[in-house]
Amino acid sequence: MIGDWVGFWDGPHFIYVNARHKDVHYRLIAHEIAALVANPDARVLDYGSGEALHAAMIADAATEVWLCEAAPKVREALAARFAGNGKIRVVAPHEIARLPERTLDLIVLHSVAQYLTPAGTGALFALFRRLLKPAGLLVVSDILQPNVAAAADAIALLQFAKANGFFFAATWGLTRTLFSDYWRVRSRLGLTRYGETAMIEKLSAAGFAAQRAPKNIGHNQARMAFYAKPYR
Ligand SMILES: C[S@@+](CC[C@H](N)C(=O)[O-])C[C@H]1O[C@@H](n2cnc3c(N)ncnc32)[C@H](O)[C@@H]1O
Repeated sequence: MIGDWVGFWDGPHFIYVNARHKDVHYRLIAHEIAALVANPDARVLDYGSGEALHAAMIADAATEVWLCEAAPKVREALAARFAGNGKIRVVAPHEIARLPERTLDLIVLHSVAQYLTPAGTGALFALFRRLLKPAGLLVVSDILQPNVAAAADAIALLQFAKANGFFFAATWGLTRTLFSDYWRVRSRLGLTRYGETAMIEKLSAAGFAAQRAPKNIGHNQARMAFYAKPYR
């Protein structure tokens, strides 16, 4: 993790402009992850899940869903939210590292790699290679490209907001975010970016045959997603 991004995610922040934004954000992600679950016996890991409000949709498509979160307060809230769902397990990173080899069918790392150092992401890929079954799938998504400006994120948010009935809240939210901790932390710590070839090579170095996915998970199509399968 670069600097204190986990501290940022664990505290109060205004990344979601209102409750509707947060709801449709997590609903879309859960819907798209659920669509990647190959069969009802699948074991799925959402690594860096955030609040994962709609993880029950993924659980409905799978036999077991692991939500791994580094931020302690986010993890506590997840555990409380899904206490009644026998298919969902909420864990800290060190607990995931203890899972037996070849346990998981699908691993999703969505909107996390930009907050990690390249070495941190490399270590995670090595862990995922160990945990994934030979026929399993790793999805690495929401990857920022080197030359895409922050304005692309703002435009994508406004389009998403317009389509989902929170456009005015989003314009106000973007203004507020400009003066918030997010931009202070983002300017100070930076975000890690990868070109398409660099990400494919990084996945390959960890033992995956990877390709860019036709579409990113979530609303921001200026960012990239990759499908990676263990080399045989
Ligand atoms: C931008 S949020 C993304 C949340 C969710 N995946 C989504 O797309 O809405 C990044 C999340 O990753 C978590 N995170 C960052 N580094 C992590 C790590 N090394 N292990 C587990 N979680 C991590 C943060 O605490 C935060 O909740």
